[in-house]
Amino acid sequence: MFRVWDVSLMICFSLSLMFVGGEGESELPPPRNLTFTWETPFELHLTWEKPKDLEPDCKVNYTVDVHHSQDCSERDKNKSQDRQVSRRIKNLSFKLDISNENGLCISVTVNPENCGIKRQSRPSEISIPPPSVRLVENRSFEYSHNRMKCTWESDVYVPDLGFYYSSDQNKTVVKCNQMKTGECVIHDTILKDMTEMFYLFNGTVNGQPVNNTFMTKGPTTFVKLDKPQLTIQKVGHDLHFQTHGSLLEFKPHCYKYNFTFSKCNEEKQVIQSNETLTVEHDSNCKYRARVQIIFSDKCGDGKSDLSDEVEYGEDRYPNLPVLLAFIIIPLIVSCCLIFSLVLLRRHKDIIFPKIPEPTLIFKDMLINNIRMAEDLRSTADGRLYIPFEEIVESRISLEPETPLIPTATDMAFKKV
Ligand SMILES: *[C@@H]1O[C@H](CO)[C@@H](O)[C@H](O)[C@H]1NC(C)=O
Ligand SMILES: *[C@@H]1O[C@H](CO)[C@@H](O)[C@H](O)[C@H]1NC(C)=O
Ligand SMILES: *[C@@H]1O[C@H](CO)[C@@H](O)[C@H](O)[C@H]1NC(C)=O
Ligand SMILES: *[C@@H]1O[C@H](CO)[C@@H](O)[C@H](O)[C@H]1NC(C)=O
Ligand SMILES: *[C@@H]1O[C@H](CO)[C@@H](O)[C@H](O)[C@H]1NC(C)=O
Ligand SMILES: *[C@@H]1O[C@H](CO)[C@@H](O)[C@H](O)[C@H]1NC(C)=O
Ligand SMILES: *[C@@H]1O[C@H](CO)[C@@H](O)[C@H](O)[C@H]1NC(C)=O
Ligand SMILES: *[C@@H]1O[C@H](CO)[C@@H](O)[C@H](O)[C@H]1NC(C)=O
Ligand SMILES: *[C@@H]1O[C@H](CO)[C@@H](O)[C@H](O)[C@H]1NC(C)=O
Ligand SMILES: *[C@@H]1O[C@H](CO)[C@@H](O)[C@H](O)[C@H]1NC(C)=O
Repeated sequence: MFRVWDVSLMICFSLSLMFVGGEGESELPPPRNLTFTWETPFELHLTWEKPKDLEPDCKVNYTVDVHHSQDCSERDKNKSQDRQVSRRIKNLSFKLDISNENGLCISVTVNPENCGIKRQSRPSEISIPPPSVRLVENRSFEYSHNRMKCTWESDVYVPDLGFYYSSDQNKTVVKCNQMKTGECVIHDTILKDMTEMFYLFNGTVNGQPVNNTFMTKGPTTFVKLDKPQLTIQKVGHDLHFQTHGSLLEFKPHCYKYNFTFSKCNEEKQVIQSNETLTVEHDSNCKYRARVQIIFSDKCGDGKSDLSDEVEYGEDRYPNLPVLLAFIIIPLIVSCCLIFSLVLLRRHKDIIFPKIPEPTLIFKDMLINNIRMAEDLRSTADGRLYIPFEEIVESRISLEPETPLIPTATDMAFKKV
């Protein structure tokens, strides 16, 4: 019971607090007559009026939000992205350079600066649709030595297509005169000092004027460096990979050198700020190298093409004798051995003909010796070995050329 009382008292207390707070803090009225005009194709001029019915001692200021989408309901979703410009100001007007590429949602809210207990107002909004026709697509930029080459593609035929540019520092709108199909080169010494660039493409499509504006970072983020040359030089025990670029437009610290080289097919990559790379020379290796100049992110963005590949030296095998001694020679020897064994097995009859069993010869000699003892007295030359008279079939006559060593078949005959 005690608990229930406690809880309900707490609820009552917090409810009453909410009521008291809510009664005092009311919303400020939104600003009135929010309108826009384009001062130049890039410069948006916003104006509005102070809300009506503000107490005379109430001081307010305004928050201006500009979002790069016609759809104001998407405004809060992408707040973290840079698609949003947000400013707090005291004035009743605001100017900013902006592109109309994706349409715009503009909102202005009233903030209490010193106005009792009032809350921020609801926003006053206007939305500007994107241009009816997208005149160009796939724009790209290359900056080098006070020139910026702008290229684009287009699906629509615009005979009077104009290309203009402006920067946030210099509000004038300048026409690009070196106009070709899909390309124009801006030639201006202030380019490299610009931090933002605005571009305008305009023309008449179906009798209607169309303005397309775009914004990019400054030209130094589109730096295109000339393709460098690379030379390889032997200096003492080292090799020097030396980059020969074109005349440097910016300070030396703005450049980095991306060396890719292979040493005996071992790939390596070195990025350094010195235009000469020094490596220890291995005279048994062939070197191949290329270099690319990178425009450092300290100064902007960009790179050169890769240089042509340069070669130095030849691959050699310093441990060839060792290789021979330990692998190749034993290999050859064992191959020969196996080969000769196979040959031997296959042609053993030719290489090692069958020798008559020695026992037979000995037996023959033994018998002879016994007879020798018998005939010792009768014959003088009894000591001579008298071979057995061979029992031969009468029809077969012995050839005088009979081989000295009897063959297997001869032996068989002898046994008979
Ligand atoms: C502001 O808007 C009201 C109507 O909404 C209009 O009567 C008034 O003339 C406008 N004021 C200006 C200065 O445009
Ligand atoms: C294009 O820009 C010019 C100059 O700012 C402006 O007068 C014109 O109304 C614009 N046209 C369109 C269709 O936005
Ligand atoms: C908001 O961001 C999302 C994802 O990042 C994207 O898909 C969407 O198009 C963005 N909306 C607008 C209006 O830019
Ligand atoms: C807006 O404020 C700036 C200073 O912040 C001032 O120079 C300018 O004149 C003001 N513009 C108007 C229209 O009040
Ligand atoms: C606007 O008012 C807020 C107080 O609500 C204050 O913090 C801010 O500095 C003011 N901004 C300007 C530009 O006066
Ligand atoms: C832009 O580039 C994309 C992809 O490369 C291509 O599909 C498209 O057709 C290009 N736009 C124009 C207008 O050529
Ligand atoms: C703006 O640029 C134009 C053309 O490049 C030049 O004539 C003019 O002096 C520049 N103005 C300023 C304020 O820098
Ligand atoms: C394009 O814009 C420039 C600068 O605002 C203007 O002088 C020119 O007349 C416009 N051309 C067309 C076809 O709208
Ligand atoms: C350096 O050059 C190689 C090609 O040789 C490339 O693959 C690599 O991405 C480059 N590194 C940088 C940081 O640009
Ligand atoms: C760049 O490397 C070369 C050769 O190794 C060396 O002589 C020179 O001092 C280095 N330069 C800098 C700025 O380090």
